[in-house]
Amino acid sequence: MTIQTISRHVLAAALLVVGTSVPALAAGPGFKLPVAQTGEEIYVQACQSCHQPGGKGGSGAGSYPALAHNPKLGAAAYPITTILRGRAAMPWFAGTLSAEQIASLVTYLRTHFGNDYPAPVTAEDVKKLSVNLPTSGGE
Ligand code: HEC
Repeated sequence: MTIQTISRHVLAAALLVVGTSVPALAAGPGFKLPVAQTGEEIYVQACQSCHQPGGKGGSGAGSYPALAHNPKLGAAAYPITTILRGRAAMPWFAGTLSAEQIASLVTYLRTHFGNDYPAPVTAEDVKKLSVNLPTSGGE
């Protein structure tokens, strides 16, 4: 391994660390989250600040519905469109999260936090619901 390859590795590792520590506040329209790929990482970066660890929801400065034990996650289109378009005080993520990221995220939410909807959600499912959005769900 040459010095250059070593420093490239170090740089890549540093970028990864910086990327994963992007504050959730930065999540919002027009901001890309290129590093987070697993549903869990995306949840922590983009959703947890409002919906709280474990998806338990909460109230304080606002009211954030629990995603834990939430029967509305049963029909995947509901969380997908909520994430793409936003809902009331919730920001939208079309163009911020890619179709692949939203698919991993929704699959994660539907199988964690006491939710038991094992059918995986695909990027195709997300793209179908992205039609007619000004941004296409991040292609
Ligand atoms: C800035 C705070 C905020 C962020 C960030 C946020 N949400 Fe929300 N979310 C809300 C609020 C507020 C509501 C309730 C909207 C309403 O009044 O219907 C909501 C509603 C929802 C709902 C509908 C729940 C129900 O029972 O109807 C889902 C699903 C959801 N959010 C998922 C997510 C996911 C996944 C993310 C991350 C990509 C996320 N939210 C990020 C604030 C937020």
